[in-house]
Amino acid sequence: MVQSKLYSRVLGTGGYLPSNRVTNQALADRLATRGVETSDEWIVARTGIHARHFAAPDESTSDLALAASQRAIEAAGIDPQSIDLIIVATSTPDFVFPSTACLLQSKLQIKNAGAAFDVQAVCSGFVYALSMADALIRSGQHRTALVVGAETFSRILDFDDRTTCVLFGDGAGAIVLSASEEPGVLASALHADGNHAGILCVPGHVNGGVIAGNAFLHMDGQAVFKLAVHVLEKVAVEALEKAHLTSGQVDWLIPHQANIRIMTSTCRKLGLPQERMVVTVGEHGNTSAASIPLALDIAVRDGRIKRGQNVLLEGVGGGFTWGASVIRF
Ligand code: ACO
Repeated sequence: MVQSKLYSRVLGTGGYLPSNRVTNQALADRLATRGVETSDEWIVARTGIHARHFAAPDESTSDLALAASQRAIEAAGIDPQSIDLIIVATSTPDFVFPSTACLLQSKLQIKNAGAAFDVQAVCSGFVYALSMADALIRSGQHRTALVVGAETFSRILDFDDRTTCVLFGDGAGAIVLSASEEPGVLASALHADGNHAGILCVPGHVNGGVIAGNAFLHMDGQAVFKLAVHVLEKVAVEALEKAHLTSGQVDWLIPHQANIRIMTSTCRKLGLPQERMVVTVGEHGNTSAASIPLALDIAVRDGRIKRGQNVLLEGVGGGFTWGASVIRF
């Protein structure tokens, strides 16, 4: 008997943004009270960001993950008890441990979740998590995965540093990925180079019960910009080759939503019309690991992304890490 090939396929998507929407002007007004100067004009021109959402003081990353997951589970139409793998990509976990994935399992009241763990690859986190869930499903070890990107970056922003605090926001995106005989995730490519650790980092760490060093996000924006543009094109081409697709066969490009200038440059280099790129950075800012699944969910729910279409996801972030996945939705 010929055994049919096993794939993992997206059954449903979900997203969640905290209710507190902060426009550039509102942020600029807040920063002005600290003597920090910025403007809506500067932020829009350099990044394409108009607004971002910030979590409420009592909202944690696992709360955001829970709301996005509930929507993805509902869209997938599955019994949550059938989930046997939970992976949360985050760099802003609720605690050092337990993992946000375990907290999410408890909040969803999933009894036998199988494995639950966090992935820390900063803004590439969702692509890393997706690739891992796909491999675990194709190997037969797990059947139904909840894959989440969730962040509360507002907690690690230095609001005295205008070069970083205007860029990031909070949010969560989730997908349910399940074993299928029909193609879903076609290929992934992941990379890392720790030699670039210093250009984007949160160097503070817990030692002796207190935080030692600076626990705010630090970024050399121009160095990150150059590296991102370079690696994003390369990894997209690599993933497409692995999937045996040309860029002309990509229906939708969903890049990590960090800066519209990086995104349009990648889109142009791939020879794709800008209309085929999903853009949410203007309304979300950079939500790190949440940005790709949030953008995916928005384009699925507004009807742009349809079943059978090819979607290219790609991310780059601190570490340095970068990666791309090609999925047949
Ligand atoms: N408001 C007003 N002026 C500002 C602000 C601000 N918020 N921030 C910086 N400036 C000033 C600078 O002080 C500088 O002034 P100067 O010329 O008098 O010294 C001037 O603006 C230009 O600063 P640059 O740093 O050269 O501006 P640049 O065009 O490089 O834009 C930016 C900065 C937006 C950070 C850009 O470098 C960038 O997007 N980099 C990539 C960032 C990124 O994608 N990060 C995320 C990837 S990974 C992850 O998501 C975790």
